[in-house]
Amino acid sequence: MAMDRGHPLSPMSAARGWSALPPLWLALVLAAVVPLTAAAAGFSCRPGYRPVVFNFGDSNSDTGGMAAAMGWHIRPPEGRAFFHHPTGRFCDGRLTIDFLCESLNISYLSPYLKALGSNYSNGANFAISGSMTLPRDVAFALHIQVQQFFYFRDRSLELIDQGLPGPIDAEGFRNALYMIDIGQNDVNALLSYLPYDQVVAKFPPILAEIQDAIQTLYGNGSRNFWIHGTGALGCLPQKLSIPRKNDSDLDPNGCLKTYNRAAVAFNAALGSLCDQLSAQMTDATIVYTDVFPIKYDLVANHTKYGFDQPLMTCCGYGGQPYNYNISISCQSKSATVCDDGSKYVSWDGVHLTEAANAIVAAGILSSEYSRPKIKFDQFCKV
Ligand SMILES: *[C@@H]1O[C@H](CO)[C@@H](O)[C@H](O)[C@H]1NC(C)=O
Ligand SMILES: *[C@@H]1O[C@H](CO)[C@@H](O)[C@H](O)[C@H]1NC(C)=O
Ligand SMILES: *[C@@H]1O[C@H](CO)[C@@H](O)[C@H](O)[C@H]1NC(C)=O
Ligand SMILES: *[C@@H]1O[C@H](CO)[C@@H](O)[C@H](O)[C@H]1NC(C)=O
Ligand SMILES: *[C@@H]1O[C@H](CO)[C@@H](O)[C@H](O)[C@H]1NC(C)=O
Ligand SMILES: *[C@@H]1O[C@H](CO)[C@@H](O)[C@H](O)[C@H]1NC(C)=O
Repeated sequence: MAMDRGHPLSPMSAARGWSALPPLWLALVLAAVVPLTAAAAGFSCRPGYRPVVFNFGDSNSDTGGMAAAMGWHIRPPEGRAFFHHPTGRFCDGRLTIDFLCESLNISYLSPYLKALGSNYSNGANFAISGSMTLPRDVAFALHIQVQQFFYFRDRSLELIDQGLPGPIDAEGFRNALYMIDIGQNDVNALLSYLPYDQVVAKFPPILAEIQDAIQTLYGNGSRNFWIHGTGALGCLPQKLSIPRKNDSDLDPNGCLKTYNRAAVAFNAALGSLCDQLSAQMTDATIVYTDVFPIKYDLVANHTKYGFDQPLMTCCGYGGQPYNYNISISCQSKSATVCDDGSKYVSWDGVHLTEAANAIVAAGILSSEYSRPKIKFDQFCKV
């Protein structure tokens, strides 16, 4: 199956149909995040209990699920900056979700499909690299991940019914935080063959899948949701390395305007969906966090964060300007790897370095990009 590191791309198609962004577009995006519609109930947790987190998504938050599912033998340098061995994360170290778990003082989420060494007492991670929302019935679309969650829940409750130690009980499922970070692969796949206007027209069925996931979980008792938007797709070396006729689609930071514009439009629609669901599910808390401005800022203000290379991969092939070649990935024996990943925003052309993920997590934890502005750890203080 296609991974987001290797979607076949039709090289010129992404350059069609773009038009210039209004100069204040980013300011507008940030401003749109500010108003709070309703006072949220806020997350809560049983006294004395640790937070439980269930996560659904793609490689941005896959802590080893795809490697386990496919039996992939992931090689170094994956993991080198933190775990010191490959874990199935596509990163030199920790992902954003790992930093979010650290902020709750819980252990990193075990992939649902990882048979050995997993511990599900703090939740489970259903995210799988390359996942999309559509088509919904293929492994490992969002819908399948949600079905896997119900399988997990039913087995856990069954064990407890039999007097055996199930990892999570009914109250744990009710109080858990349900996180979703998906859409990047859907938007990228559309941009690889359709002009911008037609891409945006295809967002509603993608959003309907995210809505269905939230509603199905809610219908089964979930009450705490944390939804991430998509990132600055036009700043990814994978997209920038697609041959183009000229540089007219590049913005002043060297990112592709069309991709970023699509990401911003997707996030605006996802944010509206979350507002609408919050209004309907008055006894639930649904936090939408727009990670686009955080990820764009990494590139636009890279020197502020100590990055020398905002648009070039640490692990890749080809050298300047992007060090990315779709046929020679970071996992290829011919790939080259930089000495110091903390000087790079992009690890492998698609995924960020641990250093960049730490900054993304700090942005999320600031709640500046969330609405309502609830702190991430609010849902389950222990
Ligand atoms: C995590 O632990 C730190 C240090 O003990 C503490 O300050 C913080 O409040 C804890 N966070 C949560 C969410 O429990
Ligand atoms: C699983 O994690 C929990 C919480 O961190 C810990 O209390 C428990 O001992 C762990 N179980 C095993 C078998 O390691
Ligand atoms: C609960 O989950 C099941 C399994 O996905 C689903 O068929 C059902 O519609 C959900 N219940 C509600 C009330 O949403
Ligand atoms: C640059 O390429 C775009 C898309 O291929 C084209 O529409 C535009 O006219 C080109 N601009 C210049 C200055 O050649
Ligand atoms: C860059 O940083 C400055 C100062 O913190 C901030 O005002 C600006 O919005 C940032 N630019 C982007 C594109 O995020
Ligand atoms: C990728 O690398 C191969 C092998 O060096 C080369 O033949 C090919 O042209 C490169 N592709 C691009 C898009 O640079």
